[in-house]
Amino acid sequence: MKLRLDKYLADMGVGTRSEVKKLIQKGQIMVNDQVVKKPETKIDTQKDCVCYQGKEVAYMEFEYYMLHKPAGVISATEDHKDRTVLDLIDHKRKDLFPVGRLDKDTEGLLLITNDGQLAHRLLSPTKHVDKVYFARIDGEVTLEDVQLFSKGIDIGDEKPTLPAELTILKAGEESEIQLKITEGRFHQVKRMFHAVGKEVTYLKRLQMGPLVLDKNLPIGQFRALTKEEMDQLC
Ligand code: URA
Repeated sequence: MKLRLDKYLADMGVGTRSEVKKLIQKGQIMVNDQVVKKPETKIDTQKDCVCYQGKEVAYMEFEYYMLHKPAGVISATEDHKDRTVLDLIDHKRKDLFPVGRLDKDTEGLLLITNDGQLAHRLLSPTKHVDKVYFARIDGEVTLEDVQLFSKGIDIGDEKPTLPAELTILKAGEESEIQLKITEGRFHQVKRMFHAVGKEVTYLKRLQMGPLVLDKNLPIGQFRALTKEEMDQLC
């Protein structure tokens, strides 16, 4: 792939586009051992070697991060009112976005990437990618609910939901459950429980397709996907 030197450096998080332009113009960037002072210089990401402060800046076309989303941030790339999930990612390149949405009050696994094709595959309604949630429910979740969920629930859309796998972890005035769904409708989990007369009081996504929320990843933190996770996803 060929791209401008300033974009290359900005994509790799060396600075903003205007910051890297200044670095280039000051002669602080070397390409194949030569100082290059023109930000528009075309770089071949496969062949050229770009160095800043004596270190190679290798180009990664796609980046993939697992974020443990906290409640209170929104799943968007920018917002003039609320903090977004991208505000939690340091040194970010401009083209990152969250794959799908979790509600503002939902916690858990969110994939952040700039790989549009992967996002499309994971979100396509025809692909039925599994999503697993843990939830606390105000009300007693019963075996009848398990049966109803396994058939699909009318949540007021054109069609009922697809069958969902509901597991009761704790039943009582406040219940705890795990739910596996294969769609991603708006507020789906909350609306499914609402349809059986119960309310979700806490929701956390644990899994999306093969990707499992890392138990060691503190809430609000992110990390790059491992090679194994990448192989499972792609
Ligand atoms: N279902 C919901 O109701 N909310 C989410 O954030 C995700 C799934």
